[in-house]
Amino acid sequence: MKVLSVVGARPQLVKLAPIAAAFAETDHTHVIVHTGQHYDADLSDVFFSGLGIPDPDVHLGVGSGSHGVQTGAVLAALDPVLELERPDWVLVYGDTNSTLAGAVAAVKQHYRVAHLEAGLRSFNRRMPEEHNRVLTDHAADLLLAPTEEAMRHLAAEGLAGRSVLVGDVMVDVCLRVRDDVRADRHPRPELPEGIDPNAPYLLATLHRAENTDDAARLGALIEALAALPVPVALLAHPRLVARAEHFGLKLRLGALYPGRPLGYAGMIAAVLGSAGVVTDSGGLQKEAYLLGRPCVTLRPETEWVETLDGDWNRLIPDPWTLGAEWPAAATRPAPSTGRGEPYGDGQAARRVVDVLRGS
Ligand code: UD1
Repeated sequence: MKVLSVVGARPQLVKLAPIAAAFAETDHTHVIVHTGQHYDADLSDVFFSGLGIPDPDVHLGVGSGSHGVQTGAVLAALDPVLELERPDWVLVYGDTNSTLAGAVAAVKQHYRVAHLEAGLRSFNRRMPEEHNRVLTDHAADLLLAPTEEAMRHLAAEGLAGRSVLVGDVMVDVCLRVRDDVRADRHPRPELPEGIDPNAPYLLATLHRAENTDDAARLGALIEALAALPVPVALLAHPRLVARAEHFGLKLRLGALYPGRPLGYAGMIAAVLGSAGVVTDSGGLQKEAYLLGRPCVTLRPETEWVETLDGDWNRLIPDPWTLGAEWPAAATRPAPSTGRGEPYGDGQAARRVVDVLRGS
């Protein structure tokens, strides 16, 4: 069997790591195509080297652009690659523009498409990720769902017959790296200047278009983080840096200490060292949950609803409306409630390979 993975953005590289490792244990051929949606070393190269992913077989070098330009460029560039490789399956990951382009390019040429992390829904049609995941699910031949909730969404859209619950591959990689970090097999993360790793700090990220692309909203979020009573390590995505600069907003303010994004092991270590997480990232919400740190999600909804159980994660889209409850929420201690295994047992990637072979 030949499987061609299409990846391009940071969270897809994290998901690719356990999939590539699972393929490496088999005789199947796994071809990695990097679209080039993310090209900064901090968002791309460090994940290949840090997670031991083989170098991409093909790099499309597409880069940034408006949604249409970026999606269209990936689509066009994939045509000759698919023609040359003729895979049995095209595997697309998550909900980025690279995901949608990979799915559309493949179905147009009659290659079978499998969607990893299928069935997630925010029901917020203003998010680019929501269009990407809905359209990809409906185009794909095989839907590899991470959770029971995702399976329910797929069934509600008439897609149950093509759906398989495999668990979440992020658990595979998160728990393995957590154990390596605990065993001191990684160097300490480079936290932003001004953050003392031995004193309590909150770990923050902010990159969603809904939060970064409006000057007033971004300014209010920065002020809310800066007003917290503990230092906040802000690992700044290039999109955030670019938008803040464009709007004339300073990221170094009050309790807020901006720094560069971290590689995967650095991120896991930074979560483990933190008192809690404040984020709009889907992956980080889940990592906080898996690693037992309380989280605030700066969005009105989440696709990972299981993290909300037991108050491990709290949705706070507009922190400035909460008054004194905001710092109390952001610095609340870890709940004493248990966390179950809604995201699976850490063997999802092996299951993905088995399901692809058997389908
Ligand atoms: C993309 C995904 C989002 C995912 C995120 C993870 C879409 C629609 N969005 O958002 O779902 O959560 O990746 O990080 O696909 N930039 C750089 N260097 C890079 C890449 C981007 O400086 O290597 C800057 C550019 O200013 C660019 C902006 O970030 O215009 C946005 O990049 P883009 O790839 O469009 O989306 P992300 O915000 O990264």
